[in-house]
Amino acid sequence: MKSAIIAGVFAATAAMGQTIKQSEPFFLKVTSSNLTIDGKFLYSCHAGAALQTLCLGSRDVPTTNVNSATFYLNTTVYEGKESDTGNLIWNLVLAPGADGSQQIVSEPLTFQYTPGSNVAITWFAPGYPTQPEVGFNNSALFVNSYPDDSHFTDTYPEQFTSTRISNWYACWVLAGSYYYNALSWVTAGAPHNPTCQSVSVIKVDVSA
Ligand SMILES: *[C@@H]1O[C@H](CO)[C@@H](O)[C@H](O)[C@H]1NC(C)=O
Ligand SMILES: *[C@@H]1O[C@H](CO)[C@@H](O)[C@H](O)[C@H]1NC(C)=O
Ligand SMILES: *[C@@H]1O[C@H](CO)[C@@H](O)[C@H](O)[C@H]1NC(C)=O
Repeated sequence: MKSAIIAGVFAATAAMGQTIKQSEPFFLKVTSSNLTIDGKFLYSCHAGAALQTLCLGSRDVPTTNVNSATFYLNTTVYEGKESDTGNLIWNLVLAPGADGSQQIVSEPLTFQYTPGSNVAITWFAPGYPTQPEVGFNNSALFVNSYPDDSHFTDTYPEQFTSTRISNWYACWVLAGSYYYNALSWVTAGAPHNPTCQSVSVIKVDVSA
């Protein structure tokens, strides 16, 4: 009797499992105290085969069906509870197959680092292993930084904490072999790249 109940609970848990939930589509725009870049929308721009970074475009609200300006947040739902952080997604649309079918590759935002700089390029690439966990606080994009090592001592900590940081900058970067004014991430401290301008990244609902 007891084992039957346990088996039943186990089966229900396994069936519920962990699922991925994709948000409604949204646009992203930067806000900045620098009026040259304030209010510009972000567009996925070509940096190599199936590789993209996030370029600053115009201030005009993108038209609803512009794929390069359309992003999603993928969160996980586990036992009915949805996380408020996840992966920032852009869909790479491939050329239609011979049968005319449309194929997309769901690409999560990653950061591409350079050994000698604290400025990382925003990067969309298929099947990339390390993805920063991101979320929105009052529409402003943040990254979960874990662990927060700023209070580390020489003994094993009682707990590791994460912090929500928004070290976004618009910088001139080398993305693949392309030179773009693109959204960038500064790991810590002042940007090594002198062109970087501090920005916030704001979610704009497609229907808004
Ligand atoms: C994002 O979620 C959608 C819908 O569940 C899924 O098709 C897609 O593969 C997910 N992307 C990633 C990178 O996990
Ligand atoms: C504002 O950003 C532009 C474009 O990156 C740059 O040329 C300009 O120097 C910046 N202005 C200030 C006051 O930093
Ligand atoms: C969200 O942003 C507000 C400022 O807009 C800040 O006061 C608050 O601490 C943030 N909350 C989280 C959970 O990061």
